[in-house]
Amino acid sequence: SAKALTGTASRSSLLRRGYSSDSVPDRKVTILGAAGGIGQPLSLLMKLNPLLSNLALYDIANTPGVAADVSHINTGSEVSGYVGDEQLGKALEGSDIVIIPAGVPRKPGMTRDDLFNINAGIVKGLCQAIAKYCPHALVNMISNPVNSTVPIAAEVFKKAGTYDEKRLFGVTSLDVVRARTFYAGKANVPVAGVNIPVVGGHAGVTILPLFSQANPKANLSDEEIVALTKRTQDGGTEVVEAKAGKGSATLSMAYAGALFADACLKGLNGVPDVVECTFVQSNVTELPFFASKVRLGKNGVEEILGLGPLSDFEKQGLENMKSELKSSIEKGITFANK
Ligand code: NAI
Repeated sequence: SAKALTGTASRSSLLRRGYSSDSVPDRKVTILGAAGGIGQPLSLLMKLNPLLSNLALYDIANTPGVAADVSHINTGSEVSGYVGDEQLGKALEGSDIVIIPAGVPRKPGMTRDDLFNINAGIVKGLCQAIAKYCPHALVNMISNPVNSTVPIAAEVFKKAGTYDEKRLFGVTSLDVVRARTFYAGKANVPVAGVNIPVVGGHAGVTILPLFSQANPKANLSDEEIVALTKRTQDGGTEVVEAKAGKGSATLSMAYAGALFADACLKGLNGVPDVVECTFVQSNVTELPFFASKVRLGKNGVEEILGLGPLSDFEKQGLENMKSELKSSIEKGITFANK
């Protein structure tokens, strides 16, 4: 394991300069799959986040190099690298947030569900370790198919007696990031101020951007909304095809994952009104898991917000996704209990 020399003393002086309060608590974040395409840039971005004191990087191979590299960055958090099953417990112990980008990505022609057979087993094993070593951590699930891996995690935690539905999140932030970018381009507004809820799940038609609630408003035609919706749903495939066999979104995903983890950290630290779209156990629809706007707080999910008013097109999109989302959720539950 590679240890950085930077300590918490330098971190608190850094925080005192940047923040009005110097009472930011120590926070440990663990990344499982840290040496991968997403894991490496995500490790970099988390090292830049002043809200964490300890960054633990775990993978089945290559983490010592990634950890040594990232640890030389002169920000306050301490970095350690862990490799292989026997070091997984150490990576997880005391963790406040565990981010999981472990598993195989898509190649051209594949759906996210095609990843199920490999990634379901990986996620199951990692969640068993989380239940054992850091049962109270917030879990940010990136590994696909998210519509199934989140229900798998829930079942594993239930079996271990550690399940807390407020602490398990499917990361759908990349869909929001894409919707914002594509909308700003079409509406010709500065992207920095754009916000759009994206609800449902994280695969194809289960991704439902609510452009009728977009901020700022723009006068887009029905055809433009249909095209923007499709582009958001197919955003991942756009990258998979452009990478032509070399994987799926990694850099934009790392950005989105870092954004979501930062929101979780802020929530834990008691920052008010932190709201993000994420795939959680939910009563918003009849489905047991659903992505919608969620207020984050000291215990994870503080409040699941409703869908708000939908256009007819969005109402239809909501109905159209339900059977696929339902079967992806059930597939995860069945796998975990087999
Ligand atoms: P990658 O193949 O580049 O990296 C995956 C890493 O996971 C590798 O370093 C591998 O060694 C590691 N790994 C495999 N088994 C492991 C285990 N048991 N424990 C710890 N680490 C393990 O893949 P990439 O591009 O980083 O994608 C990772 C996952 O993220 C894929 O499932 C992909 O579909 C998903 N993804 C999710 C998105 C989302 O919006 N939620 C967006 C893009 C990708």
